[in-house]
Amino acid sequence: MTQSWTKNDWRNYPRVQMPEYTDAAKLANVEARLSKYPPLVFAGEARRLTQSLGEVSQGKAFLLQGGDCAESFGEFGADTIRDTFRVMLQMAMVMTFGAKCPVVKVGRMAGQFAKPRSAGTETIDGVELPSYRGDIINDIAFTAESRIPDPDRMLRAYTQAAASLNLLRAFSTGGYADVHHVHGWTLGFVESEKAAKYASIANRISDALDFMQAAGVNQDTAHTLQSVDFYTSHEALLLEYEEALCRTDSTTGMPVAGSGHMLWIGDRTRQPDGAHVNFLRGVQNPIGLKCGPTITADDLKLLISKLNPENIPGRLTLIARFGAGSVGDHLPRLIKAVQEEGANVVWSCDPMHGNTIKSDSGYKTRPFESILREVREFFSIHTAEGTYPGGVHFEMTGQDVTECTGGVRAVSDNDLSSRYHTACDPRLNASQALELAFLVAEEISQNRAKEAAA
Ligand code: PEP
Ligand code: CO
Repeated sequence: MTQSWTKNDWRNYPRVQMPEYTDAAKLANVEARLSKYPPLVFAGEARRLTQSLGEVSQGKAFLLQGGDCAESFGEFGADTIRDTFRVMLQMAMVMTFGAKCPVVKVGRMAGQFAKPRSAGTETIDGVELPSYRGDIINDIAFTAESRIPDPDRMLRAYTQAAASLNLLRAFSTGGYADVHHVHGWTLGFVESEKAAKYASIANRISDALDFMQAAGVNQDTAHTLQSVDFYTSHEALLLEYEEALCRTDSTTGMPVAGSGHMLWIGDRTRQPDGAHVNFLRGVQNPIGLKCGPTITADDLKLLISKLNPENIPGRLTLIARFGAGSVGDHLPRLIKAVQEEGANVVWSCDPMHGNTIKSDSGYKTRPFESILREVREFFSIHTAEGTYPGGVHFEMTGQDVTECTGGVRAVSDNDLSSRYHTACDPRLNASQALELAFLVAEEISQNRAKEAAA
């Protein structure tokens, strides 16, 4: 974004949450190889996403961002990718139909491998080892050797991201996402009240499509209905990897991160003078910024001026994650800061990271009720402030896991052990994710109705 920026400048700034690699020669070798590999995404795609998010920032569309907390090498497979993609399509359909609002779809997929941790070490039965930091850095197995950061893991993560993205591109444009298959997305979906409600929407969409065909609605529209724009995103935490995949956009001559369409800065790495902010300010991709309870209005203003000095709509998405019951303590002061700056931002709600608790059975979980409550608070505060609640950010999977408690097909504390597969934080399962989509659709419609009446 600025003339003076280069992709390795971040190395001159304080870095947090990054591994200390012990084998410098191996690291240099991996970086050199990665920097010759093709980028995973292209600058034109990133620009198109910025434009779509620009529509969101103006209240004309809605952002749905979701996927794994941490992708893992072990859970990699076509079914996992297809199932998460399918639930996102279903959620987007519920929102588009329920709220009559275009939905921008962004997966936490094909690159979400590196994790910030609240503690540097983990102790089990008196044994203390370095924390697991995501499969791109070290291994989750609890042995000293597994926890040593290994640069070769970056190459494996790149390969997995490339294969995942290849499948997502095929699903998006190869027929799977054709809205005429709206019923097919239900296949394999566990029965629930929401699944029935989804089937009823699917029937109405099918009727509308039949009508359009009978009435001879033109071919241009047919093409739009046969494919979907689906983007990838991840936390840009491991800057050696990000730097190695950074490229110059041949159209604009500007740097672009080649590892994913949208990159975000985590709540633990958003120091205005830190390495992460310095790297991300220079790439032209749309950027997310996690905003937790400790962010001050002054820091937010500084971050906005660094990350989006030209005030480009869609460039910056503020992802609020305060915890149910705390949104009112923080969101209004941050909305005020944004207004004082006259900044164009997308406001999105991450109702996951402020609501993590340890269950009685010892598992890290998130009560569905708290997640719902945070989403409701987010919408009601924006409606009260006259600002636009533009998106949601979920940790979710298409698999029928038992990681968050509650929901229509109630998952209890005791159920958590039965299908708890996440490599990091607890995710919504398909049924819980769809249930949230219905709630969000209602909230968007109510917000739009109030706006229209005002
Ligand atoms: C995450 O999104 O997985 C995450 C670690 O979030 P945060 O930075 O908001 O804690
Ligand atoms: Co997480």
